[in-house]
Amino acid sequence: MFFDFAAISPRERYKLLVSTITPRPIAWVVTQDATGHLNAAPFSFFNAFAGDPPVVGIGIGSHEPGRPKDTRRNIRERREFVVNLVSEEAAPLMNVTAIEFEPSVNELAEAQLVTLPSVLVKPPRIAISPVSMECALLQIVELGPDSGLVLGRVLAMHVRDDAVLDPAKHLIDTPNLKLIGRMHGTGWYARTSDLFQMDRIPRANWTLRDGSPVPSP
Ligand SMILES: Cc1cc2nc3c(=O)[nH]c(=O)nc-3n(C[C@H](O)[C@H](O)[C@H](O)COP(=O)(O)O)c2cc1C
Repeated sequence: MFFDFAAISPRERYKLLVSTITPRPIAWVVTQDATGHLNAAPFSFFNAFAGDPPVVGIGIGSHEPGRPKDTRRNIRERREFVVNLVSEEAAPLMNVTAIEFEPSVNELAEAQLVTLPSVLVKPPRIAISPVSMECALLQIVELGPDSGLVLGRVLAMHVRDDAVLDPAKHLIDTPNLKLIGRMHGTGWYARTSDLFQMDRIPRANWTLRDGSPVPSP
């Protein structure tokens, strides 16, 4: 079927996007407002966009027209944030922090989450998260009146000790992180335990369909 995005409503476009672009990793973002109050919320319009410089991006909307989500407002004001990744174990707590609380509510306290101090930024990290990234705001790309893409430079990463295979080689035991992804509709998530491996094909091992020889280096 063909869906012309010009002919459908914003809600319908959103449904098509989030039920097809799956699974999406979840950034569980901790920020502080201008007076230092803590805030936490999950965002699945999230990914890494470059290794050098190390850049992550998060798409953050508004609670209603003209009222940006607290996370976007806080990042604009304070220019720093912590992205925590979400494990199966932490999923129910992440869900509590997604409640559409008024700005004065500290979601970390509501979910009874323990935090640990960050090293390079003011907002703390979430202790139960197996991975946390301390980030500095690079740029907010305004996507419309009520949506912005927050681009952050990763300054440092914390990884739970038992998930580090070899610290000198920066080798991580990714399956052991048991991270979850957001799927379609309301409330569907994926585990990252159903894996398969596929090696890259070296150019030298590939003969073109027309039989052309491999170019010499
Ligand atoms: C798993 C999950 C993923 C979410 N992803 C997004 C997202 O990518 N962008 C967004 O604007 N809201 C997203 N939300 C909704 C926000 O978490 C929710 O609106 C939250 O209350 C915002 O909090 P804040 O105002 O403290 O920033 C998501 C919610 C859940 C449960």
